[in-house]
Amino acid sequence: MTIFTRRNLLKAAAAASLAGIGASAAGRLTGLAAAKPEPLVLKAVSIEAKLAEAGPTKNVLTYDAAGMPPVVRMRKGEPFAARLVNGIDDPTTIHWHGVRVPNKMDGVPFLVQPYVYQGDHFDYAFSPPDAGTFWYHPHCNTLEQMGHGLTGVIVVENPNDPVFDSELVINLRDWRLGDDGQFIESFRPRDAARSGTYGTVRTANWLDQPQYDAPAGGLVRLRAAITDVTRIYAFRVDGAEASVIALDGNPVPQRFAPDALQLGPGQRLELAVRMPDDEGAIVSLRDVRGTKPKVLATLRAVGKSLKRDLRDLGSLEANPVAEVDLASAKRIPLALSATAENVSADSICGSLGYSFWAINKVPWPGDTPDPTAPLAELKLGKSYVIDMENLTPHSHPIHLHGMSFKVLSSSTRRVQPLVSDTYLIQPDEKVQLGFVADNHGDWLLHCHIIEHQKTGMTSYFRVT
Ligand code: C2O
Ligand code: CU
Repeated sequence: MTIFTRRNLLKAAAAASLAGIGASAAGRLTGLAAAKPEPLVLKAVSIEAKLAEAGPTKNVLTYDAAGMPPVVRMRKGEPFAARLVNGIDDPTTIHWHGVRVPNKMDGVPFLVQPYVYQGDHFDYAFSPPDAGTFWYHPHCNTLEQMGHGLTGVIVVENPNDPVFDSELVINLRDWRLGDDGQFIESFRPRDAARSGTYGTVRTANWLDQPQYDAPAGGLVRLRAAITDVTRIYAFRVDGAEASVIALDGNPVPQRFAPDALQLGPGQRLELAVRMPDDEGAIVSLRDVRGTKPKVLATLRAVGKSLKRDLRDLGSLEANPVAEVDLASAKRIPLALSATAENVSADSICGSLGYSFWAINKVPWPGDTPDPTAPLAELKLGKSYVIDMENLTPHSHPIHLHGMSFKVLSSSTRRVQPLVSDTYLIQPDEKVQLGFVADNHGDWLLHCHIIEHQKTGMTSYFRVT
C-alpha cells in the first residue's frame, strides 16, 4: 500500500509540475495539507543543449539540468516556496514577473535583496494572489543570463477555471548563435540604440516548430509567454477558431480573435483554441510580424471529435486587483526618450556600458548599488494614473513590478480596459495606466527589451 505522506505527495506534485501536467489529485491535496510547502529547488546550472542544426550549444543556462527551465505551477492564494541555488559562475536572483509578491521576494538586487553568489542559495516564499500565466527570470546580468536560457513560465492555477480538454504551455524565445551553434556577442550597440539585437535561432519550448497532439474537436488552453530579450511578436492562429481569453495573467474583458495581435517581451497570451473535427488536421500558431513570418508551433488533432464549442466556454474569474479611483488619482507623467549624451558607465550586474535611453530624462541601467531617486513616491493605498508618452521611434514593452495597472486610454488606438503588468507602447503613443499603490516597497518600472533596460530605460516607484 502506498502511504500518502506529505512528503511523497509533494514529490508527486513536483513531478507533475515538471512534466507540465495540470492539477493532479496529489497537487490538490498538497495545497490543502501544506501550510508551509517544501521549496521547489531551482538550481541555476550551465548545460549543453541542442538548439540549432549545427550541434549542441555550450554554456546554455537553465534551472533544470535536463533541459528547459520547468513550468512552475502554483495555486491562486496558496503558499508557494522555491529555493534558488546558484550553480553558475555569476551572481543571480529570481524575479517572478507579473506575480504580485511582497517587495522582499521581488528579486531585484540592491533594491530589494542581495546578490546570490555562486554556491549560495536564497529562499523565496509567497502566495500568488492572481491566477494566470506568468514567468520567472533573473534580475542580474540579464542580457547574458536570460539570453543564455534562464527564462521559465509560471502557471498559477485557479480551481474555479472552466474545464479545457487539454492545456499547452509554450515558452517563446530566441538564441543568438553563430553558424557553429555557439553563442555570439549578446548585442550590437547600434541595435541597442534602435529596436534591440535579435536572436538568430527561434524556438518554442527550446524546439524549432514543435508539434503537439490535442483532442480533435476539443478546447485547448494555450498559454504562451514571450520570454525573449528583444523580439516583439504578432500572433495569429491558422486552421482553427481561436480566441484570446487572457493577456498578461488577467482575463480580457472581451474575447477576440488573435489577428496579428502584437505582444512584446515579458507579455503572455492565453488562447482558447477549438481543434478541428478531423483527425490529423493541423493548427498553427504563427508570428506574422515583419518580413519573415514564422510558424512557432503546431497542434495536431487526434481521436474522434469531442464536438466542443468555443462559445460554451465559461469566463475566467477576474483577479483581485484593486479598482483605481479616478476621481482622487494623482497623475504621474512619464516620458520615454532617447538620450543625447552617451556616458559609458561601469558594468555592474550586467550594465552594458552605454546609455541610449531615459525615463523622464534620467538614464539608469537598474540593479546598481546606488540607484537614482525614485520616479515618484507613492502613498500606500492611493490611486495613480501614469501618463506615459513614447517620444522615441521604437516600441517599448514597459513593465511595472509589484502592482497591476489597468489600461485606461490611448492616443492612437481603441483599448480594452485590460489589467496587466506590461504595456507595449508604440512610437508616438500616449497612454494612461491607472493603478492603486497597494504594495509596499521599491518597484521597478522598465522596458523589457533588455538592451533598452540596461542602457537607461529603467526607473522605480517607492510606495510607503
Ligand atoms: Cu520581467 Cu524587471 O522584469
Ligand atoms: Cu524599450
